[in-house]
Amino acid sequence: MKYAKPNLLKKIRKNNALVGVIGLGYVGLPLALVFAEKGFNVLGFDIDVKKTEKLSRGECYISHINSKRVSRVIKQNMLVATDDFSRLNEPDVIIICVPTPLTLQRDPDMSYIIQTAKQIREKLRAGQLIILESTTYPGTTEELVKEILEETDLVCGRDFFLAFSPEREDPGNKKYSTSNIPKVIGGVDKASGDLAQELYEKVISKTIRVANARTAEAVKLTENIFRSVNIALVNELKVIYERMNIDIWDVLDAASTKPFGFMRFNPGPGWGGHCIPLDPFYLSWKARECGMETKFIELAGEVNRRMPQYVLDKLQYALNAHGKSVKKSKIMVIGLAYKKDINDDRESPAYKIIASLIESGANVSYHDQFVPTIRPTRQWPKAPPLKSEPLNAKTIANQDAVMIITDHTSINYKLIAKHAKLIIDTRGVYRQPLRNVIKA
Ligand SMILES: NC(=O)c1ccc[n+]([C@@H]2O[C@H](COP(=O)([O-])OP(=O)(O)OC[C@H]3O[C@@H](n4cnc5c(N)ncnc54)[C@H](O)[C@@H]3O)[C@@H](O)[C@H]2O)c1
Repeated sequence: MKYAKPNLLKKIRKNNALVGVIGLGYVGLPLALVFAEKGFNVLGFDIDVKKTEKLSRGECYISHINSKRVSRVIKQNMLVATDDFSRLNEPDVIIICVPTPLTLQRDPDMSYIIQTAKQIREKLRAGQLIILESTTYPGTTEELVKEILEETDLVCGRDFFLAFSPEREDPGNKKYSTSNIPKVIGGVDKASGDLAQELYEKVISKTIRVANARTAEAVKLTENIFRSVNIALVNELKVIYERMNIDIWDVLDAASTKPFGFMRFNPGPGWGGHCIPLDPFYLSWKARECGMETKFIELAGEVNRRMPQYVLDKLQYALNAHGKSVKKSKIMVIGLAYKKDINDDRESPAYKIIASLIESGANVSYHDQFVPTIRPTRQWPKAPPLKSEPLNAKTIANQDAVMIITDHTSINYKLIAKHAKLIIDTRGVYRQPLRNVIKA
């Protein structure tokens, strides 16, 4: 199709391209909103009917997104949400934001991307631009997605276009969100890269074009591996310094005053979220295929996965010092989300800690205003149906220990300090020594 590229280019430049977003989660929904707010008609696809129905009513299901943004674009008809994938021939651009988890054996679970690529293949038409945003191993777009889409008689770079552009969303970040985080773009071919760049330049303040899709895929993994390794390093230092009677938080406060050559990472009870505990292993898997080992990634995984047990050991010693055991003790966990001020509890270390406490016979409760109930997940199918308990002087004083796992801003930490018998602080909330606080 000789005119596929110029026709699409014209539509993009005039804001006339219909943008499809597949997967309306933490990444897909903000992206759909940004396109709709900048004047593109957006068709959002999701297999979760509850989500598409909520959106269609103008409601939002992600706590850190202002629900007015959703109701406004729905009312203006700029965003339409659907679970009808037969409409995939309608959009001029299709952006894929589906999950990329690990299997129980810690290998990449490509089933969501494969299923989505096959759904697109069924409706693929000349002139469409497909962009993968889901984090994945280098080569996915060029090898896996392109191969599936070319099972039609359409040719990539001539009839349809294909690029990778990683999402760099940091949920809850007040300064940086989808529209002002520079967007890395790599096309499978030049025409695809050109079109993807034109599209994102319409809605995002800065674009960074890289050589190809596999480079863009590697950029995203490199960013997350960097975080994972540095989190592990600071967690390891925390344990070492503690033995030397040095407070890691004092060290970090002082080290961060260096104006160059140091970047602060904070220790914690482990790692969580859909990215840092998972994405690095996409590279490990691909590296094994090339006969290579990823030692830093494996070591960081080992150190970070050990942290919940370190925190539990601290609790056990502290209870012991009070003449108590974990068994039968009342323990309240503060914060289930994997980081502060958001409702994303995927891969949260809080769950590993709660599961272990329950197994040891503790009487566990929790408080998290962002996560009102614990629901069973693939990793924890037998999760108890606990509900967030109110946080007040009475509930706090009633506990043998309170564990601060996530430091949401709105928690009344002074109240906890005043009434708790014992506090296990994994987030450096209490900087000054207090008789009832154990740093972990
Ligand atoms: N959450 C983040 O902060 C973040 C940041 C950067 C990159 N990413 C990456 O973005 C991708 C999406 O992550 P997320 O956090 O938005 O996940 P999510 O679970 O919040 O959203 C994924 C959405 O896709 C839907 N879905 C699943 N299978 C589908 C299918 N076959 N067709 C249509 N919809 C389908 C789900 O119902 C869900 O609404 C992942 O690859 C992730 O690694 C996430």
